[in-house]
Order: sequence, then C-alpha cells, then structure tokens
Amino acid sequence: MPLHIVRHPLVEDVLAALRDKATPCDVFRQLARRVSLLLAVEATRDLALHDAWVETPLERASVKRLGSRVVAVPVLRAGLGMLDAFLELVPSAEVGYFGLERNEQTAVARRYYEKVPKDLAGALVFLLDPMLATGGSAAMALDGLRGLGAKQVRLLSIVCAPEGVAHLEQAAPDTLIFTAALDRILNDKKYILPGLGDFGDRLFGT
Ligand code: PRP
Ligand code: URA
Repeated sequence: MPLHIVRHPLVEDVLAALRDKATPCDVFRQLARRVSLLLAVEATRDLALHDAWVETPLERASVKRLGSRVVAVPVLRAGLGMLDAFLELVPSAEVGYFGLERNEQTAVARRYYEKVPKDLAGALVFLLDPMLATGGSAAMALDGLRGLGAKQVRLLSIVCAPEGVAHLEQAAPDTLIFTAALDRILNDKKYILPGLGDFGDRLFGT
C-alpha cells in the first residue's frame, strides 16, 4: 500500500506544536487546519484537469479546470478538524460523514452515524481522519465507502501508527495514505506513541 509521508519544514513545525501537550485547544484547531492544508495539497497533486477557455481582461486564454468528482468524508468527530482545510482547496467537493467511536476499553470502533453521497463509483474520495492507530476505524470507513461503490480512496491522516498501516495493508490495499508522521508504536491502551494524545478531545476541549 503506498504510504506518502509528506516531508516539509512547515509540516514538521506544525507537528511539533500539535504534539506539545501545552498547546491550547484554540491553537490546536488552527494547527490541525494548517497541517491538513499541507496534506491535502499533496493528496490532490494529480487531480484530473480538463481544457477550457476564459476571457482575461486582455485576451482569450487557454486554461485548465478541475474535472474529477471529488468527495470528502471526514470521520466524526476528529476528522472535522481537517474538513475546512480540504474544502478551501476543493470547494466543489461533495461531503459525506461517518460517525465512528472507539470503545474506551477495547479500542474497537463502532459506527453511530452515516450520511455519504451515493454511487461513489466515479468519484475520487478523500477520507479525513487525523489518527490511524489500530486502523479499525479507517478499515470500517473504507469498507463503508467500498459498499457505496468507491473505487479510488485516499486517506489523509495526520499521524499514523505502524500497526494501523499494517492493518490497512491487509484490509484495503488499494488505499493511498497521506500522512505527516509515521510514529513508533501503540501503547497498551492503543494510543499512538509518541503521538499527540486524543485528537478529538484536544480539538474540541473535552
Ligand atoms: C479516534 C480518531 C480515529 C480513531 C483511530 O477517534 O479520530 O477515528 O480514534 O483509532 P483506530 O485506528 O484505533 O480505530 P475516536 O474513536 O477517539 O472518536 P472521536 O473522533 O469522536 O474522538
Ligand atoms: N485516537 C486518538 O485520538 N489518538 C490516538 O493516539 C489513537 C487514537
């Protein structure tokens, strides 16, 4: 499974502040948005274009316009922290939602909400979930997207654990992953080390 680790000084600097437990909630939100922009730029680098014409103030110009149907699917809650950045870059994207929550004892995800555009066969789908830990949540969302016909899915995750990447290699080998960091390991509560803690809690102040 292709894993794209986005290497960029701005990504490193944002990650440092996201990891810092002293970073307050309002700053964490801004940083989440900033790193999501950087990931989204990389993940959309090869979007299909079609030829078009526009009138500049001086003459007719040959231009390129986005041609693909793009669907963004944030995983609630934490994926909401990535959505605005994605829509800033691709304002024409349709948006769907999966609500998934890990059980605090078992770390097994359950789905509590789903509202995703139908018939994804021709769409390029961007699944937004900032943390790939065991991979259970992403695998569940990817399975749901496959059930709706999705053939091309890219996962944008700010921090990944090797265990989650290995899980998706088995469960969804065609998925491309774009991440800012491949961390070391999961702890015994299935949190990523060194990680940044609970992304949803830090984003929403819970
Ligand atoms: C977090 C995170 C991912 C999931 C990753 O969500 O946002 O969705 O955990 O863990 P996994 O790879 O082991 O499945 P959480 O379940 O804490 O819900 P939240 O976004 O509502 O906080
Ligand atoms: N979800 C998080 O928010 N953080 C982790 O480290 C693992 C899962």
